[in-house]
Amino acid sequence: MVSQIKAKQKNMLSDLKLKIKNKEARICVVGLGYVGLPLLVAFAEAGHPVLGLEISKKKFELLSKGKSPVQGVEDQRIKKLIKSKKLKFASTFSAIKTQDVVIICVPTPLSKSWDPDLSFIMSATLGISENLKKSQLIILESTTYPGTTEEILLTEFEKDGLQVGRDFYLCFSPERIDPGNANFDTSNIPKVVGGVTNKCTELGSILYKNIVKEVVTVSSPRAAEMSKLLENTFRIVNIGLINELAKAAEDLNIDIWEVIEAAKTKPFGFMPFYPGPGIGGHCIGVDPMYLSWKAKFHGQELRFIDLARQVNESMPGFVVGNVATLLNEKQKSISGSKILLIGVSYKKDVDDVRESPAIEIIEMLQSQGAIVEYHDPFVPKLHWEEIRLLSKPLTKKTLSDSDLVLITTDHTDMDYESIVEGSKVIFDTRNILRNKGFISKNINTL
Ligand SMILES: NC(=O)c1ccc[n+]([C@@H]2O[C@H](COP(=O)([O-])OP(=O)(O)OC[C@H]3O[C@@H](n4cnc5c(N)ncnc54)[C@H](O)[C@@H]3O)[C@@H](O)[C@H]2O)c1
Repeated sequence: MVSQIKAKQKNMLSDLKLKIKNKEARICVVGLGYVGLPLLVAFAEAGHPVLGLEISKKKFELLSKGKSPVQGVEDQRIKKLIKSKKLKFASTFSAIKTQDVVIICVPTPLSKSWDPDLSFIMSATLGISENLKKSQLIILESTTYPGTTEEILLTEFEKDGLQVGRDFYLCFSPERIDPGNANFDTSNIPKVVGGVTNKCTELGSILYKNIVKEVVTVSSPRAAEMSKLLENTFRIVNIGLINELAKAAEDLNIDIWEVIEAAKTKPFGFMPFYPGPGIGGHCIGVDPMYLSWKAKFHGQELRFIDLARQVNESMPGFVVGNVATLLNEKQKSISGSKILLIGVSYKKDVDDVRESPAIEIIEMLQSQGAIVEYHDPFVPKLHWEEIRLLSKPLTKKTLSDSDLVLITTDHTDMDYESIVEGSKVIFDTRNILRNKGFISKNINTL
């Protein structure tokens, strides 16, 4: 009897493996945002039948009509996949009963007190647990602190006697996409996979090989969770360092950009990071806080992260201080001046304004009495807390009417020539103008 059960389990595992290898495995992606939707489409385009599960009614309705809410995933791709019946959408968890693989890509923000907010992961976990089918492979992709997959998902899935590696399979695989980066997408960014058991890792690895060139396996979900946080911590710390040095360079009357260019000629042991108006988005601003929160439970204070955060958070104020100085040189004050921001998304070539430093800069300038306008081809309207602004067309009049033009995001396709020609004073926090070869007296840099 025991041997029959074991043989059945072995068969179920090899069935799942075969289905995945043959791209017949039905894959459900939970959460169709910047991460989930490109992943869903990648699996569908590779040949898998896929199901997108989204709780936002608005997004679900848009997607069901073949309309993409995510930049970089074109409507035609969705429409084509819907037509071919490879792609379906659902809004309730009962739909996962028919699926072989479930991948979770829900948000992992911070609470108001800067603690991890795992409410989205918890609700997805419960939804899956209530509908878990034997032999399903579940993968968490949302960035989170080390231990989440085993402490939260595994505990919940095993609570009624099911066993990982026997009745279901569980992995963590961090998402590493870089929205707006034309050189890297899902297919050419190596995928890290850590399963709870070896069988879990093997299944996860076979699955991702269907859509990415390289899969890197690690020994546990914890190692995979931590690898993502190491990448992002490395970035927050180095950006914090160069921001702090940029402030010091200003006092020393040294051009930090020139210094970085010189330093980066060293062919080893140096990697350039650049100063800016502050950090935004999820990866750098939020993710390392998950690690520092978790480390505190083990009596460790991750001081590098906290220090880098403090320095980076001081940058919007530093930018506003520079704006005040530049206006002062023209016998003007922030109060009553018209200031035009170029770019409000948190980084170039994306439409994402989450945690964007431009928002804090706008709030600071407005609170000091400035008349703030902005131009951003990726963000036609900016509705964020108290801010209600529409992107102004970049005309000669918009530029000449502004007392100061503040470049906060270095979008690639921007009419920088007109900006240089038409602006009275420019403060370029990204050094994009000099990088593009513009030399003009009205250009000032961070
Ligand atoms: N955006 C990035 O560049 C990026 C890069 C790497 C990793 N990540 C990580 O990936 C995760 C997702 O980020 P994102 O930017 O795609 O977020 P997002 O807000 O763009 O998308 C998440 C989606 O999940 C949906 N959702 C929330 N709870 C749900 C539930 N219970 N069931 C179904 N759908 C649900 C939301 O409605 C939303 O559409 C986060 O952990 C983030 O840190 C993001």
